[in-house]
Amino acid sequence: MTETPAFRRVLITGASSGLGAALGMELAAPGVSLVLVGRNSKRLDATAQTCRARGADVETCVLDVADAAAVADALEDADARQGFDLVIANAGVAFGRETPETARLTVETNVIGVLNTLIPIEPRMVARGSGQIGLVSSLAAFRVLGGPPAYSASKAWVRIYGEALRGRLARKGIGVTVICPGFIDTPMVDDHTRIALGRQMIGAKEAAKKIVAGLKQNAPRVTFPRGAAMRVWWLSVLPVWYTDRKIRRKYRAAAVKWRGDSNTA
Ligand SMILES: NC(=O)c1ccc[n+]([C@@H]2O[C@H](COP(=O)([O-])OP(=O)(O)OC[C@H]3O[C@@H](n4cnc5c(N)ncnc54)[C@H](OP(=O)(O)O)[C@@H]3O)[C@@H](O)[C@H]2O)c1
Repeated sequence: MTETPAFRRVLITGASSGLGAALGMELAAPGVSLVLVGRNSKRLDATAQTCRARGADVETCVLDVADAAAVADALEDADARQGFDLVIANAGVAFGRETPETARLTVETNVIGVLNTLIPIEPRMVARGSGQIGLVSSLAAFRVLGGPPAYSASKAWVRIYGEALRGRLARKGIGVTVICPGFIDTPMVDDHTRIALGRQMIGAKEAAKKIVAGLKQNAPRVTFPRGAAMRVWWLSVLPVWYTDRKIRRKYRAAAVKWRGDSNTA
């Protein structure tokens, strides 16, 4: 017997690549309508094709989430037709070497883009008295040293915003899940990190499965992989003078490994 889909009318931002594309594929099934948002229409269409092959109805929406007016217009219109029961604010950018320009772009996408996505949807879900919201944060939201500052801070904002939203919407019949992954094997991960982490990275498909399971249960927070989640939790509660030293040592070891592997590649 085929399982009844838990979510039937779904919006995913950043669905043209990596985790967003994998979430679309995980949720795609007969009887499910997906609205997939991204800037790159070619990649977005490729995700849409795969989701359609799994039986879903799919609409694509080429949008920059940083453009508040365009996002509000498109999402209000889409929600009026669909009545989303799941919205995943996933679109995000990361720049390994942050400059003032890329730091601004990071905040405009990862922070303002999330607000732009959820502001038009929230009152509509409240009026319906139902729905589930997923916000993609990161383990970098807990404790970081040496990672891109604007990226880490943007993900901390997403985590806290999502947790506060969960409190605000709990009595209105709407669930909120904050998603805090460790490294996932997607185009966002740079070669340096890819080489240093190797098999410690989780695949996008496996990550999407864990996230969808958490969304179905209205879990407050989905964190993985378990070992990395435990480590960042400890790093966030231990004294900073101690954890700074530990983290610096780990970064040095990763840099040495990267140089070694690059030289032998
Ligand atoms: N990969 C990891 O290790 C990792 C770990 C923790 C959290 N995350 C988070 O997971 C989310 C997905 O990242 P990913 O790893 O799947 O990276 P990715 O493969 O680079 O995908 C990022 C997605 O965001 C979209 N996007 C970026 N800027 C956008 C904008 N201004 N407007 C609309 N869409 C935009 C991109 O689409 P277009 O290029 O078509 O616009 C793409 O679909 C991000 O929020 C990221 O911070 C990733």
